[in-house]
Amino acid sequence: MLKMIHLTDTHLVEKGKRLFGLDPHARLKLAIEDINRSHKDANCAFITGDLTNWGTPEEYTALADALSKLQVPLHLLLGNHDNRENFKAAFPNIACDVNGYVQSSVDTDQGRLIFLDSLMEGTSSGWLCEDRLKWLENQLSDAAAAIYLFMHHPPFDVGIPYLDKIGLVQKEEFENTITPYKSRIRQIFFGHVHRPIHGEWLGIPFSTLRGTNHQVWLNMPFQEDHQLEYSYEAPCYGVVLIDAQKTLIHTHEYMYCDDIYSDKTKDLKPHV
Ligand SMILES: [Fe+2]
Repeated sequence: MLKMIHLTDTHLVEKGKRLFGLDPHARLKLAIEDINRSHKDANCAFITGDLTNWGTPEEYTALADALSKLQVPLHLLLGNHDNRENFKAAFPNIACDVNGYVQSSVDTDQGRLIFLDSLMEGTSSGWLCEDRLKWLENQLSDAAAAIYLFMHHPPFDVGIPYLDKIGLVQKEEFENTITPYKSRIRQIFFGHVHRPIHGEWLGIPFSTLRGTNHQVWLNMPFQEDHQLEYSYEAPCYGVVLIDAQKTLIHTHEYMYCDDIYSDKTKDLKPHV
């Protein structure tokens, strides 16, 4: 069994500052405390990008301090809100590929985990250049068995017009790279959309979930000038359980704390 915790879009700002009226530090701290309390047995946790909101050295210092409390091994991915050099300065031991991109792979009892770096500074869109795709192809070609992909940007349109404008630019190239191996790719985990979405693409299951700070409201108008609407929907993390037969993902709204009960005779307040 492989147990992993999926966190995404933590968007940390400097300590003491708020983002969209929310405190990203407090929300990440609650997630970490909850994971330490309930999932210390996880093999690893991973954050699928947008680790910070502005990519400043101060934000990464604060991130490193916050994550030092997590009692589970951690894999970090970069998103469009991140800054690669500032991140690497704060996390000097982070695994990188031969070209310096924050890409790595790890072999587990359940297969190979491949972490991708789709950051192109200066744009919100995702970018997987020839070098990064070549590295990916090498990782795919010598994987012994099952493969799991992790990235910030979804590699296909998700049906929310504004988000699709800032999706992965090299969708076709990515598809061409993974297609020969798709029968062995058992899941793609991504971030970026701040919403729970799951399904399958090219026959490959995929999933993402809400971030730990702000969310994107489901708004899918068919119009060119679509703007994102944000929401205060509850933050989540995912608990991923993998064995040879299945991939199972629990979504946990870890800040929900109202009306949790075990006494079935308890007189709960009325709900609609
Ligand atoms: Fe984000």
